[in-house]
Amino acid sequence: MRRSPAGVLLAAVLTICLSVPLLAQPAARQAVLVTGASTGIGRKITELLATRGYFVYAGARKPEDIAALSRIPNVQGIRLDVTIPAEIAAAVTTVEKAGRGLHGLVNNAGVAVIEPLIEIDEQDLAFQMDVNVMGPYRVTKAFSRMLIASKGRIVTTGSLSGFVAGPLSGPYSMSKHAVEAFTDALAAEMSRFGVKVSVVEPGNYKSEIGTTLQARMRARGKSYDASAFQQEMKRFQDGAALGSNDPEPDDVAEATWHALSDPNPKLRYLVVPNQRQADLTIRKVLLVAAQLNQGHRYSYSRDSLVAMLDQVLTRVGGAAK
Ligand SMILES: NC(=O)c1ccc[n+]([C@@H]2O[C@H](COP(=O)([O-])OP(=O)(O)OC[C@H]3O[C@@H](n4cnc5c(N)ncnc54)[C@H](OP(=O)(O)O)[C@@H]3O)[C@@H](O)[C@H]2O)c1
Repeated sequence: MRRSPAGVLLAAVLTICLSVPLLAQPAARQAVLVTGASTGIGRKITELLATRGYFVYAGARKPEDIAALSRIPNVQGIRLDVTIPAEIAAAVTTVEKAGRGLHGLVNNAGVAVIEPLIEIDEQDLAFQMDVNVMGPYRVTKAFSRMLIASKGRIVTTGSLSGFVAGPLSGPYSMSKHAVEAFTDALAAEMSRFGVKVSVVEPGNYKSEIGTTLQARMRARGKSYDASAFQQEMKRFQDGAALGSNDPEPDDVAEATWHALSDPNPKLRYLVVPNQRQADLTIRKVLLVAAQLNQGHRYSYSRDSLVAMLDQVLTRVGGAAK
């Protein structure tokens, strides 16, 4: 049956009107697992994803945190210490049994260990690596089958400390530098399965990471009286060196959401609260390029370096207007 022009118009308008609410509502809530969801950045990510149409499995360790997370609509708190393989295996079973599949994994759980490299006990350095490096490795490996099945996303919370390092921050910076390599290698491996991998690099934001560091230092009961960095370590121990005016990590959560939901997520999301922290990071990366280019048989000229920079900017689209 042929329609009149008015009929065709009416049908088109109706189609658009009916499809708008359908487009705005995801067909079914995709599931995302967030590790370290009890406080700080992980808690913000959990809250944001739950309001943006996702079902969130929120990993935590204390029963009261698991219960509090489960009270958020579209969130299920699950017990998950990223250093305990049995808890990771149990989390996989829980997510599999729920039958929603798994669209995304957010490797967010992390701790900071601050101590001079020439003085730190091996056990403390191992603890740093166990949580921040082995944690993402273990959890990603355990959930990889589900993420490949969904052609999903893996997002890890890195840090500016994945690029910069200074006195006392050696343990933490080593762990976050490892997260950069983890991300690059994982992204290259997972691309053949259609799984996209990103790392979100926050600057300084409000969280419990400083108070947790201080509590652990107190619990370890180590004396820094004989330390070559006595004054600096005491400032960490008594909390004076811990910033308290940092902003809430809303922008970090937004970047994580983008990495999980955008058709073309970025590999790296630098998220900083001010120009100074961006400056610190970008200059450090450029400095490393200059250092690698310094005085050897295959060094590039300045013009060649500038041309290279132009080429990568064209490829990534990374320059401000
Ligand atoms: N805040 C910043 O300025 C900043 C900057 C750059 C990067 N980051 C990174 O952001 C991530 C989140 O840290 P945050 O700043 O939000 O600190 P936070 O408030 O202390 O949160 C850390 C989270 O990790 C969890 N966690 C610690 N050890 C764990 C383990 N073994 N297994 C599972 N979960 C564990 C904590 O759980 P419990 O409550 O049970 O201890 C908590 O949920 C970390 O990877 C951190 O390195 C933070």
